[in-house]
Amino acid sequence: MIQLAPSILSADFSRLGEDVKKIETAGAHLIHVDVMDGHFVPNISYGATVMKSLCGKTQMPFDVHLMIENPDQYIGDFVTDQTEYITVHQEACPHINRTLQHIRSLDVKPGVAINPGTPVSALDYVLEDADLILVMSVNPGFGGQKFIPSALRKAQELKVLREKRGLNFRIEIDGGINVTNAKSVIDAGVEILVAGSSVFKADDVPTRVKEFLEIFE
Ligand code: DX5
Ligand code: ZN
Repeated sequence: MIQLAPSILSADFSRLGEDVKKIETAGAHLIHVDVMDGHFVPNISYGATVMKSLCGKTQMPFDVHLMIENPDQYIGDFVTDQTEYITVHQEACPHINRTLQHIRSLDVKPGVAINPGTPVSALDYVLEDADLILVMSVNPGFGGQKFIPSALRKAQELKVLREKRGLNFRIEIDGGINVTNAKSVIDAGVEILVAGSSVFKADDVPTRVKEFLEIFE
C-alpha cells in the first residue's frame, strides 16, 4: 500500500489543528513531523511540544523526521501513543545501531534517512535494523525545494537490496514531491511519499490530497 505523509512544516501554524483535520478527512495516511535544530540543518522548525499538541486531535500516526544532531538525547520526547516512526539521519549518528535499538525499545519503528550526497551503501550494515529508509530528495532544511532526481536511483537500489536480503523496511521519499513526479517515485519503489508545500500550499488542500491518492491507485 502506498501512503501519503503530508509534512506540517508547510502548514499554517496559527491553525494547525484545522489544517491537519483537512488532510485527514481527505484521506492522508501519516503526519510527517520535520524537526530541525539549526545545527544539523541550517533552519529551526519546531519540537515535540508542537507535535504533542496534535495528540488526540487526529487519528493519523506521527512519522517523525529528526534533522538534529545528537538525536539520542531527544528521541524519548517524541514517543507518544500515536508515534509510528522515528527517523534519524545516518549522517548524525556515530552509533546508529544503538540509536535504532533505542527507538525500537520504546515500541516505535526506527527509520534511517540519507541526505542526497550519502550513498545507499552507507546503510549496508543497518538495513536489518530499520523499519523505514528515508531517501532525501532535497538537501534537508527547508520546504519548497526542487526534487533531486538521483533519489530515484537510490529507491531502486533499496528495493533490489530488500528483495535480495529478504528484509521488510519500507521506502520513503522526502523533498520536492508533487503530483507530477509522484508516479515516477512510486515506479522506483517508494511506498511512503512525504509532501509539504505541494499539499499545504495548494489552493484547495483536500483536492490536492485526493489527486495524490488517485495516482496511488
Ligand atoms: C525538508 C523536510 C521535508 C519538507 C518537504 O528538510 O524534511 O519534509 O518539509 O517539503 P516539500 O514537500 O515542500 O519539499
Ligand atoms: Zn522530512
